[in-house]
Amino acid sequence: MSDMVPATTSQLRGLVPGERFKIMGVLQQIKSRSDKNKRPFWEVVLVDSEGSVEAKVWSDGKWWDARAGERLPMEPSSPEMPGAFLNVPVGAIGTVSEFRGRQQFQFSELFLLDPEKFPIGGFIQSSPVPVEEMEDEFRSMIESCRPEVRGFLEKVFQGETWKKFREMPAAVTHHHAYVHGLLEHTLAVTRSARALARSYNGSGVDIDLDVVTAGGLLHDIGKIDSYRLDPFPSMTIPGTVIDHIALGFTRFSRMAREYGLDEELETALGHILVSHHGRKEYGSPVLPATPEAMVVSSADELNFIMFCWETFPESGNAEPSISDFHPSVGRRFWRPGPRKVEE
Ligand SMILES: [Fe+2]
Ligand SMILES: [Fe+2]
Repeated sequence: MSDMVPATTSQLRGLVPGERFKIMGVLQQIKSRSDKNKRPFWEVVLVDSEGSVEAKVWSDGKWWDARAGERLPMEPSSPEMPGAFLNVPVGAIGTVSEFRGRQQFQFSELFLLDPEKFPIGGFIQSSPVPVEEMEDEFRSMIESCRPEVRGFLEKVFQGETWKKFREMPAAVTHHHAYVHGLLEHTLAVTRSARALARSYNGSGVDIDLDVVTAGGLLHDIGKIDSYRLDPFPSMTIPGTVIDHIALGFTRFSRMAREYGLDEELETALGHILVSHHGRKEYGSPVLPATPEAMVVSSADELNFIMFCWETFPESGNAEPSISDFHPSVGRRFWRPGPRKVEE
C-alpha cells in the first residue's frame, strides 16, 4: 500500500505509467463496454473539485461497500450494480498506463464511502474566482448604466433568476462547466466587450456603452433554463431541444414587456441575444448587425477560445507544448515557453 500515491484528478496528469494511486470523488458516469474477447468492462468518469478523469474498470475489478468502515464485497453481477456507485462519493485504487502515447487510467478497486463523512458538495468543481468578488463587479457594471438600462437590469437580475444565474455553469462540458461558471464567463465577456467598445469610441465610432454592458450581461441568460445542477452540471430538456439562444430571447422579451422597456432598446438588446454566436451554423439566426452586437459576439467567441487555450491539458505528444486537436475550435493550441526579457 505504501507505493500508492494519493492524488486528485489534476495531480493524476503528473503520474507516469506503472504508478499506483488512490483517489476520492464522485462517479458521474458508468458505461458498460466489452473488449475484443467479449469480456465486459466499465468506462467510468470520476469527478472531484479539480476536474474529472476517465478510467476503465476491468471485469476482475473489485467493488466494495466501505460506508460503515470495514469493506464488504459487492457482487458486480447483482441487479443494483454498478448503478449503486453512481452519483455518490467513492474511493478508488488505480494504476496509470499508456496507450498510443496517451496516459490512461484503470481502477482495480472501488469503494462506496459514507456520504456523511465525505459530503458530495466537497467534490463539486467551482469557479476559481471568489463569488463575492464577481457579484461586486456585476453590480458595479449595472450601476454604471443610465437609469432606464440600470432599472431593467436590476429587475432581471434579482430573486430566483439571480439565484440561478449566480450558481449556474456556463456549459456542461465545453467551457466554464462548474458552479458560478456562467457568472465568470458573463463578466469576462462584458468586460472585454466594453473595452473593445471604448477603444472604437476613441477612434470615432459611436458605440452605446450601456447597450454593450446590458447585452453582455444578458447574452447567455437562457443558460439558466438550459442547465441545472443536480448537483453536477447537466442539460435540461428545453436546453437540449430549444437551446439557450431561443430560451434566453423568450425570457428577455417577456421581462422587457413586463418592465415596459423602450421598444428600440428592446430590439437592440434582443438583437445582441440572438446574434451573439456570430454565425448561423453556431446557432444564431442572424449575424451581428450593430457595433454593440459585434463587440459582444467577438468577446464571447474570444472568451471561449481563450478558456480552451488556458485549460488544455498536457498532451502525450512528442511536443507537449502543442495540444491535441480541439474539434470545437478546429485547431491545435500552442503554449510557448516563458518569454525572454530584454535587459
Ligand atoms: Fe451563448
Ligand atoms: Fe457566452
